[in-house]
Amino acid sequence: MKNHPENYPLHSSDKERHRLKMQAQALIPLSQRMLNGAGIAHGAHVLEPGCGSGEMTLLLAAAVGPSGRVTAMDSDPAQIKAAAEKIAEAGFFNVSFVLSDMNNFVPEQIFDAIVGRYFLLYIADPESALARMARWVKPGGALAFLEMDFYRGVRSHIWPPVAAETNSAIEFIADVMLDAGINPHMGVSLPSMLALYGEVHAETAAPPQFGASSIELPLEAVRSVIPMASKLGRSDACRYDVDALIAAELQGRDHRTVTMPPLSVAAWVRTRS
Ligand SMILES: C[S@@+](CC[C@H](N)C(=O)[O-])C[C@H]1O[C@@H](n2cnc3c(N)ncnc32)[C@H](O)[C@@H]1O
Repeated sequence: MKNHPENYPLHSSDKERHRLKMQAQALIPLSQRMLNGAGIAHGAHVLEPGCGSGEMTLLLAAAVGPSGRVTAMDSDPAQIKAAAEKIAEAGFFNVSFVLSDMNNFVPEQIFDAIVGRYFLLYIADPESALARMARWVKPGGALAFLEMDFYRGVRSHIWPPVAAETNSAIEFIADVMLDAGINPHMGVSLPSMLALYGEVHAETAAPPQFGASSIELPLEAVRSVIPMASKLGRSDACRYDVDALIAAELQGRDHRTVTMPPLSVAAWVRTRS
């Protein structure tokens, strides 16, 4: 699709949307703390860039209530369609969707808040994107983002130790992301980037997941980056059979399994009046 950024590394598919849902479950507490801290309340009009399949949109729709509005934007038409279905199924009528690349988006009004999750790391120049977005919120409005960090804090790992092939498949996710030009330091860079616009509040979390099925989250991410690995011409693009890896891991695992995600950083400001 012409509007969708060519370096976006996660292949759009139902499996990827299932992965986003698993990821969203683990991120609910940190996301809610960010929304509360940023003062996202009933009646607010919020822009959500990079809404994906609508997992964060659900939290925003509930936070702003029937008197508020969410404008959810994404460059992927399949994600917008899935998000719109999810929001309708949940019974919300306060969300409108916009298909647009962030780089071409021009809002028709200003917002009370702009909230994004796992979005800025995919943007080539996040400082410029934030500078543009800061002009789209009213004075005293909120800019709030939750981003990950590949290198500091916890790497995505599984305990008890797993087959070498599974660990190297998980390393492969970060390798492909880096090759695609994704910012691995977005999480820790976020507070200083936001400090230009107001007093920064930040929280971090790396919520572990438990039980054998928790290995599906990182292994589904392996599946989602394989098309980008092929596009980049990587010699290991076809190395991993994700279904076989998941089946083997599920068979040999039990409730003691712990899957650690990368570190997430949530940071928010109220812009200067
Ligand atoms: C990892 S998903 C996160 C989705 C959602 N925010 C969540 O937390 O579940 C990132 C989303 O950003 C979108 N995206 C990436 N680059 C974009 C851009 N330049 N403009 C608009 N959307 C973009 C992708 O299509 C994808 O749906």
